[in-house]
Amino acid sequence: MDIKQVQADLDKKNEALKISERRLNRTQELAHLGIWELDLINNQLTWSDEVYRIFGLDPQKFGATYEAFLEAVHPEDRKVVNDAYSGSLRGGKDYYEIEHRIVRKATGEVRYVHEKCEHTRDSSGKIIRSIGMVHDITDRKIVEEALRNEKQERQVILETVPAMIFYKNRENTFVRTNKAFEEVMRLPKEKLEGRSLFEIYPKEQADAFWKDDKEVIATGQPKLNIIEPMETPAGKRWVQTGKIPYRDEMNNIIGIIGFAVDITEQKKTKELLERDKKTLEQYVLKRTEELLKSYREIEKMKRLSDLGELAATVAHELRNPLAAINLASYNLKKKTSNPELEKHFLTITKKIKESNEIINNLLSFSRVKAPIYDIVNIFDLLDENIENMAEQYASKNIIINKSFEELKNISVQADQIQLKSLFTNIINNACEACLDHAEGRKIEVIGSVEGDNLNIQFKDNGSGIDKENIEKVFNPFFSTKAKGTGLGLAVCNQITRLHNGKIAIESEKDSGTVVSITLPLKKHEYTTKN
Ligand SMILES: Nc1ncnc2c1ncn2[C@@H]1O[C@H](COP(=O)(O)OP(=O)(O)O)[C@@H](O)[C@H]1O
Ligand SMILES: [Mg+2]
Repeated sequence: MDIKQVQADLDKKNEALKISERRLNRTQELAHLGIWELDLINNQLTWSDEVYRIFGLDPQKFGATYEAFLEAVHPEDRKVVNDAYSGSLRGGKDYYEIEHRIVRKATGEVRYVHEKCEHTRDSSGKIIRSIGMVHDITDRKIVEEALRNEKQERQVILETVPAMIFYKNRENTFVRTNKAFEEVMRLPKEKLEGRSLFEIYPKEQADAFWKDDKEVIATGQPKLNIIEPMETPAGKRWVQTGKIPYRDEMNNIIGIIGFAVDITEQKKTKELLERDKKTLEQYVLKRTEELLKSYREIEKMKRLSDLGELAATVAHELRNPLAAINLASYNLKKKTSNPELEKHFLTITKKIKESNEIINNLLSFSRVKAPIYDIVNIFDLLDENIENMAEQYASKNIIINKSFEELKNISVQADQIQLKSLFTNIINNACEACLDHAEGRKIEVIGSVEGDNLNIQFKDNGSGIDKENIEKVFNPFFSTKAKGTGLGLAVCNQITRLHNGKIAIESEKDSGTVVSITLPLKKHEYTTKN
């Protein structure tokens, strides 16, 4: 072989080597993978270009030394890295690998590297060379870190959100649950995950849940705001549930993700509020009605009081002329002895008497004022009244039964005169009603005490009252009698009201009437101020 040939061969090989070196260099660059070699015999360290690039160093300016390398390592990682290398030498290991950070001197940028190192020994076992690889894994680390953070965040949300969250597969098995769900079910994660809906809930309940799941899986559409009952160890709760399809990376539906919020308390509160609202509305309605009624009553009272005053004035004014007429008729009668005129004088006297009665009634109606309270023995008062009446109607065959033994020794705080007028008016009406019958005229007066009240009923078997009139009997001047003033019951109404009592009338035409009175045994303080 001539020398030229050898030279050409060498050149060719050199050229091929250069190409190969360039390729290797480029490959290292693309892979972010640098190679280093430490010759321990000559204590010489060599870095490939990519090692310099990874460390952010200029091959022209920096010599490759172990110190330069350690300098590039992140200060916090330096000890571990040094220990790994020297430890492997001391420990006689042939291989080690480590992940650590480096800091690029020029920019301060932190990078992550993965290092692998292998030692070569001589025949005596002494290490003569170390070959290492530096892999820049910063990009992977960043992605990993981001993934880890994301996962952590997701976990935090999952575990702290106050809603129950669960992932279920297509086979109806829980694959993932969160704390809120575990707490409500009072079961640890292990007893929920991997178990089917039917193992956890009663069949009926599980069927209902599963139906929704299947719908979401089949349609791929979320199902939201499902308000449903949920059986839990703490009893039945109401939840608002949402279910969405659970998809894999290929977008296939592999189950459902559900979230449920316990709305039992809200539901209860809402129901309570609704009930309260209804009660309040009813109350307002009732009060309004009552107010309207008392307003109407006040209006009526005012009209009556005006009317009463007018009536009293007229009645009063009529008294004097009536007295004059009476006197004149008396004088005339004395001066004439014509017997034919006798019956006319009798009529005049009778009519004057009737007129006077009407006047008295009118005056008594307008004079009903605040009671003057006294201690009244109610038994005696009733008894006396009935005796008077019986005397007055002696010829009319009316039987008056007294059934108020219970009232003996019962005294009431009341206006004696007003109570007398009250009883007289009622018994009078009863007697007059009885006169409609030819016989069997009967009246019963029943008295009893109930709590703080006194009840008296006046029953008669008289004419009774027409249905359409029953409403009107308490109206002043309402009368069905030819000579009635229609003031009796109006006066009774006023008297009981002033005593804070009640009066009611029940009647059936042609069969009889019951007038019921309730009076408090003791006067109500505020009435005295009226
Ligand atoms: N016990 C009774 N039985 C039947 N009707 C009665 C009775 N009490 C009252 N009434 C009816 O009520 C009306 C009003 O009674 P009241 O006010 O006492 O006036 P008066 O007796 O002057 O008619 C009477 O005209 C009568 O039609
Ligand atoms: Mg009367």
